[in-house]
Amino acid sequence: RNRRPIIAIDGPAGAGKSTVTRLVAQQLGLMYLDTGAMYRAVTWRVLQAGIDFTDEPAIAELVSQCQISLISSGSQPQSLRVWIDGKEVTQAIRSLDVTANVSAIAALPVVRHELVKQQQRWASKGGVVAEGRDIGTHVFPDAELKIFLTASVQERARRRLQDLQGEDQGTVSLEQLEADIQLRDQRDSTRTLAPLRQAADAIEINTDGFTIPEVTDKIISLYHKKASSLHQG
Ligand code: CDP
Ligand code: CDP
Repeated sequence: RNRRPIIAIDGPAGAGKSTVTRLVAQQLGLMYLDTGAMYRAVTWRVLQAGIDFTDEPAIAELVSQCQISLISSGSQPQSLRVWIDGKEVTQAIRSLDVTANVSAIAALPVVRHELVKQQQRWASKGGVVAEGRDIGTHVFPDAELKIFLTASVQERARRRLQDLQGEDQGTVSLEQLEADIQLRDQRDSTRTLAPLRQAADAIEINTDGFTIPEVTDKIISLYHKKASSLHQG
């Protein structure tokens, strides 16, 4: 094996992937790859350019030429900054507008093909904790550790309500967020290409009622167990 380890973390919206993945990466000294931020950045760019979602040639051109940078400063795990084509979109990609449209853009084969290629190139030397929907199944099928994070729809909607930022605050009810999450889960898990599903060799962790440090510790201990068994094997 000539690369450093890879940890794959998949699961539906609001399961805790971003938060926990950042902490796991920080504590293990690995890089953090937020693939959802890449799909969100492309979606922001398509909306900004006013491209019709059915105009696949225009989207293909945009995604093949766009420059996405994910910059995390090591000491500050909360501060992943996202740039696309020279513009910082760290906040903008979390808006309800981008969130409502990202699953449609992420279902386009041309978008997935290009972003997966970039993700694999980015992690070619390993040493990465990557999170998304298809990491364990498609992007890094030979990852050393695969985690599938889940939580009930109610719990995930409650978390999202607390996370709403800026002008989105107070504009949407818990019921609406539950409906949005269910719709996105359904779109993500029924699309043809690389749908959201648990890899056969992934370990499921239901995070209902568990704190962020508890989930983080659980993954780190699973990783250490896995690493010592790989050494012995
Ligand atoms: O943070 P949240 O769970 O809401 O979503 P995200 O991880 O930022 O991903 C946003 C959307 O991008 C998802 O709902 C998927 O439609 C898409 N996505 C994907 O298709 N494949 C990935 N590996 C990551 C995200
Ligand atoms: O990336 P994903 O959409 O899977 O979830 P996230 O953005 O990491 O987490 C959504 C929200 O749930 C954040 O506000 C987390 O702080 C919170 N969370 C929690 O309350 N308990 C957990 N065990 C995990 C996340």
